[in-house]
Amino acid sequence: MYNVRKVTEDIVWVGASDRRLALFENIFPIPRGVSYNSYVLLDEKTVLLDTVDASVAGQFFENLEHVLDGRKLDYLIVNHMEPDHCAMIGDLVRRYPEVQVVGNTKTFGMIKQFFGTDFAERAVTVKEGDTLATGAHTLHFVMAPMVHWPEVMVTYDEKDKVLFAADGFGTFGALNGNIFADEVDFDRDWLDDARRYYTNIVGKYGASVQALLKKASGLEIAVICPLHGPIWRENLGYILEKYQKWSTYEAEDQAVVILYATMYGNTASAADALAGRLAAKGVKKIAVYDVSNTHVSELISEIFRASHVVFAAPTYNGGIYPVMENLLADMKALAVQNKTVALMENGTWAPTTAKQMREKLAELKNVTILDTQITIKSAMAPEQEGQLEALADAIVASMDKQ
Ligand code: FEO
Repeated sequence: MYNVRKVTEDIVWVGASDRRLALFENIFPIPRGVSYNSYVLLDEKTVLLDTVDASVAGQFFENLEHVLDGRKLDYLIVNHMEPDHCAMIGDLVRRYPEVQVVGNTKTFGMIKQFFGTDFAERAVTVKEGDTLATGAHTLHFVMAPMVHWPEVMVTYDEKDKVLFAADGFGTFGALNGNIFADEVDFDRDWLDDARRYYTNIVGKYGASVQALLKKASGLEIAVICPLHGPIWRENLGYILEKYQKWSTYEAEDQAVVILYATMYGNTASAADALAGRLAAKGVKKIAVYDVSNTHVSELISEIFRASHVVFAAPTYNGGIYPVMENLLADMKALAVQNKTVALMENGTWAPTTAKQMREKLAELKNVTILDTQITIKSAMAPEQEGQLEALADAIVASMDKQ
């Protein structure tokens, strides 16, 4: 059965959701599923903006056929060539042989790589500032390189003031009938997944997102249509403010996130003890995670959210406990910056993790590493109570300064 919804009088959502996929990109757990959004503009010409992932192809083509209602498809605009959106291009061209494919030079290079042909006979190559008149609507093409991939562009509909934002403003989570952000409790139910999506998928490219936000600020935007998750048609300032913070690596909360690795519970006990001391000193919104039992994408998301992060880990084979080392590598890959961090280490005979973690964290931009740190020899000793207080004091003092 088809499942479509109008976004504006002439624009229809024809996407679909996948609630069976366990790992997005075969990496990220998505217990709430994911949507692949696609849109049709019905004007004198008909236009499809992006296809979908192969997993929801059946639903997508049923939706498209229903919306076109016997009309031919004139254009496919390819804003993004990652297969979760471009997978059905070949199939689409076979089903709609008259369709012209609109993309930029890089788009067609990638189409050739993925499909073995660049569809030269039907290609319409556009560049920054080009437009496509479809009747009552004029579509503007704005290049957005590295707002996730180099070929990414966004499309702006001048008439309805709609920005088709590619991966921008996307989020994990299946759509459940309510395809608009104003129809759900976004802050309660979606924000964490939106942050986890942004920080892990696009987080490395803050400067590129900033460049797009700057270009977008020159447009009058009434609706933001992302390729994943709810559409924004009210309170756009809410999500724009989040994107402003995430893309400039500004923390959302003055808060402490404590990330510990533990083999037998002793480092966990120290982490909890620190959390208790911080709370007693008035710190709110403290979050504590076991890095071995929390997916790294959740940890990255929480690191972006909070101003302060404590890393606590045992020494393992003379190095950093592997799961923690992986997290630090991911932080570097995603260009995490602007944090104040503190360290706790554990080691029964030769604790060196704090020094090694310090070296890795020093490679990140604008990261302040507090001098005060704690070394645990197997288990926190009663006489270390003062050290715990001192570390909590140092963290609180650094928060006061901000
Ligand atoms: Fe949703 Fe970069 O693809």
